[in-house]
Amino acid sequence: MDNSEILMTKGVTKNFGDFTALNDVDFEMKDKEAVGIIGPNGAGKTTFLNIITGYYMPDKGNVFSEGKDITHLSPAKRVALKIARTFQLVHVFDNLSVFENVALAFFRHKEGKSLPLRIFSQSLSQPLIDEKVSEYLQIFELDHLIDEVVGNLPLGSKKRLELAMAFAADPKVLVLDEPFAGLGDQEINEIVGVLKRYTHNKTILIVEHKVSKLTEFVDRLAVMNEGEIIAYGGCQETLNNPEVRRCYWKV
Ligand SMILES: Nc1ncnc2c1ncn2[C@@H]1O[C@H](COP(=O)(O)OP(=O)(O)O)[C@@H](O)[C@H]1O
Ligand SMILES: [Mg+2]
Repeated sequence: MDNSEILMTKGVTKNFGDFTALNDVDFEMKDKEAVGIIGPNGAGKTTFLNIITGYYMPDKGNVFSEGKDITHLSPAKRVALKIARTFQLVHVFDNLSVFENVALAFFRHKEGKSLPLRIFSQSLSQPLIDEKVSEYLQIFELDHLIDEVVGNLPLGSKKRLELAMAFAADPKVLVLDEPFAGLGDQEINEIVGVLKRYTHNKTILIVEHKVSKLTEFVDRLAVMNEGEIIAYGGCQETLNNPEVRRCYWKV
């Protein structure tokens, strides 16, 4: 096996009862590559990301990172291996402040686990934390909201916060599930701008419907349909693939 693949799946199958959500999926991406996955709703994209990030176990097949079999590792262990993700529906702590959310994500990465709240509160006073959290908040233009309670923020800010939290874990591999969903054009462009800055600096795997935004920064594009990857290659090559045209553009 070639160990250079930062992520690889072999024969990944996932069933929900009688329904096969993923069918024998082989996939690979290289270190520092940016790959987009598109496909109709229900194609299995989120299920695939859940398997890559450890939220679901496959019924068959394996997931590898740099040659290591990570199929059965928990999400927390994968974060320790530097694979971090965001969710289609945002996962942030609504009752904590913007600062506290990012600080928690930073700690999770530093300690490899959650800290007891008491230790967490004491550690928050460290200048290093202030500096790091400020850095991520600036990147995602959230610094003016630092003390806001997250529950009060609009969706666009929450999505940027979730990205800031994923970045605070200092991942090698960033896995993003529809980061543009529900956002306006300007907000999308701001996020695309940030992702472009990190393209080829981190490995980025992104599921998105907005193909024209994806092709601005991804190296390769995969199309998933009915639980299978039906095409995978350079953006134009993939979009011109006859099966893609048949399966995808009809929706
Ligand atoms: N936890 C689950 N239990 C049962 N069915 C599921 C579950 N998660 C996803 N599915 C089904 O698997 C299929 C693929 O879902 P999903 O991976 O969310 O698709 P996508 O992200 O491409 O829209 C859908 O038909 C969905 O209803
Ligand atoms: Mg989905």
